[in-house]
Amino acid sequence: MKFFIDTANLEEIKEAASLGVIDGVTTNPSLVAKEGNVDFHTRIKEICEIVDGPVSAEVISLDAEGMIEEARELAKISLNVVIKIPMTVEGLKATKALTKEGIKTNVTLVFSANQALLAAKAGATYISPFVGRLNDIAHTGMELISEIATILSNYGLESEIITASIRNPLDVKEAALIGADIATIPFSVIKQMSNHPLTDVGIEKFMADWEQKKN
Ligand code: E4P
Repeated sequence: MKFFIDTANLEEIKEAASLGVIDGVTTNPSLVAKEGNVDFHTRIKEICEIVDGPVSAEVISLDAEGMIEEARELAKISLNVVIKIPMTVEGLKATKALTKEGIKTNVTLVFSANQALLAAKAGATYISPFVGRLNDIAHTGMELISEIATILSNYGLESEIITASIRNPLDVKEAALIGADIATIPFSVIKQMSNHPLTDVGIEKFMADWEQKKN
């Protein structure tokens, strides 16, 4: 399973990359806005210099033509740039056109199996179903991951599933059990995944015993 980090924060990306567990990065307009007054293209370039893997940068146009124009400019930043496109009719048109040009796409804001099927047929490199936001409205987000995995495999569709809108370590474990290709994870959750109270207790005991030995 590949892990992407879901942030536009350089310090978080650097620290996560130093753990050796990060295969790529996803950003979105809200995550970039959280970084304050940064130039979007510059920030994507900086991220690409840290992580050698796919880096998703989202377009903000709502029409296909605008999305394609933005995508072409973003794609010039690095070969690793993947264009994140919202799951709309216009987004599908843009996905098809960009795929034809050899530009990688990540169709985002996916909340149903049919949306994922459309994105895959349009040629999306990645599809991002948002599990946390579904859970927020009392739908089981992970069921969607399972449905999409079955549908893509039924028809040999090549898009990779990015389990997105992950809120806790259990989401990551469930996505892994389903066999999702990728999970994009906030840095706080990556850190939580490394914790176990018994590890802490074990370290404390080893240290205490070691002190004992010296005396
Ligand atoms: C995915 O690509 C999105 O950036 C992200 O996972 C959305 O997460 P949120 O629902 O916690 O905002």
